[in-house]
Amino acid sequence: MRSNLTPSHGFSISRRRLLGASAAGLGLAVLPALPARAEARAYSLAPGPARVKLLADPKAQAADVWAFSGSVPGPVVRARQGERLSIRLGNGLDRATTLHCHGLRLPNGMDGVPELTQAPVDPGGSFVYEFDLPDAGTYWYHPHTQTSEQVGRGLYGALIVEEKQPPKVDRELVWVMDDWRVDDAGALTGEFNHPHDISHGGRIGNLITVNGAELDDVPVRAGERIRLRLINAANGRVFGLGFEGLDPQVIAIDGHPVAPHAPEGGRVVMGPGQRRDLIVDMAGKPGDRLAVVDDYFERLAYTFATFVHEPGSALRSSPLDAPMALAANPLPEPDLAAAVASDIVIEGGAMGGLRQAMYQGEKLSLMDLWRRHRKVWVLNGVASSGFTEDPMFKLQRGRSYRWRLKNDTAWDHPMHLHGHAFRILTRNGKPAAHRSWSDTVLLHADDEVEIAFVADNPGKWLFHCHVLEHHFGGMGTVVDVA
Ligand code: C2O
Ligand code: CU
Repeated sequence: MRSNLTPSHGFSISRRRLLGASAAGLGLAVLPALPARAEARAYSLAPGPARVKLLADPKAQAADVWAFSGSVPGPVVRARQGERLSIRLGNGLDRATTLHCHGLRLPNGMDGVPELTQAPVDPGGSFVYEFDLPDAGTYWYHPHTQTSEQVGRGLYGALIVEEKQPPKVDRELVWVMDDWRVDDAGALTGEFNHPHDISHGGRIGNLITVNGAELDDVPVRAGERIRLRLINAANGRVFGLGFEGLDPQVIAIDGHPVAPHAPEGGRVVMGPGQRRDLIVDMAGKPGDRLAVVDDYFERLAYTFATFVHEPGSALRSSPLDAPMALAANPLPEPDLAAAVASDIVIEGGAMGGLRQAMYQGEKLSLMDLWRRHRKVWVLNGVASSGFTEDPMFKLQRGRSYRWRLKNDTAWDHPMHLHGHAFRILTRNGKPAAHRSWSDTVLLHADDEVEIAFVADNPGKWLFHCHVLEHHFGGMGTVVDVA
């Protein structure tokens, strides 16, 4: 089904001069000292209209985007594990918004889901999100109101929780990856929630950016050890990055530490919403150019970035020892023997076999569901109407749950659970390689994945596909932990 996932509307990825990570987020930011008293580390984020040049071409125009505090991505929010974080959202948009800190285990009222966990923040209004940070890792923030359009126009940023004992590296790079649909001048084109995007693979674009711009060559020093924090902030694009001539080691998945390992199948595959932390030792010789290639869509492979080893001497002469595992986050281990098991079947979309579905208590043919409500995806036969529907799952606080997710569609779906992290137990009947913790698990067409978690965080939480147009098109539900 890969071929059906290619960019639609006649766009192609000819524009492959990629990824200017030039300024933001490239250096190893050092945390300013906290005051002695345990005050919250405070940030303030102001979403609003901005003009940002996405294309590297000097003749290209700046695009009208929406940005947090004027930049795409927004400022890096950085704190340390165990600290308290406070983020003031001041809404400078002409519409309501919220702030969702993706992947963080925080109190329900701080989760930023409109209607479900808070009233949306009106234009000119503000809201303070404040919570403790039990887990280290790479996370991100984005609005959860009109998500496909607000995220798609540029509202997102990295949220990094540093380990108490971070691994020793020479440099850290944060790459927030995105995929835009632009015209030749570099302006955003096309309506959001286009019917084709909803029913197919989401808003796939024709311009890939890292940290809000096409990426030029990435200068490195031979022998240098880099921690690369990757965040997929795209609406719909799955990335599959192969590192020519290098041996990257995955040390964390969706923020949570994992036994260091080479990426399965030789490439780092990331659906929307997912993160990966890599340790990459620059193994080239001075002067070498080593490409990072995205060949997730084989026939549309392109060079994502190029590590250019500076001429001159290498930083070190002998290779470093393999990276050590990071300390685990304090996640509750699910009790598999006592876990309550459920199946969640994903159906619908183009080339699917779905005929009818439930929507707001009414049984509708797929045709009516689509014509009247623009819904085309279901979980267990039910299309989501948004954020206020009856919970599909009522979970008992403190109990373990084991969910079998079955993708009966022709499309990729990164399924995201709010407020918790789950273990991935099996994939297509086989034990999952690292039993990694995750908050967003990618299911390819016909995949079956088992996850398990302890429902330890009370409140009503979303479970949804992070292809944002799929969520808009019905692929989500509410999970009530009480
Ligand atoms: Cu990244 Cu429900 O969100
Ligand atoms: Cu999906």
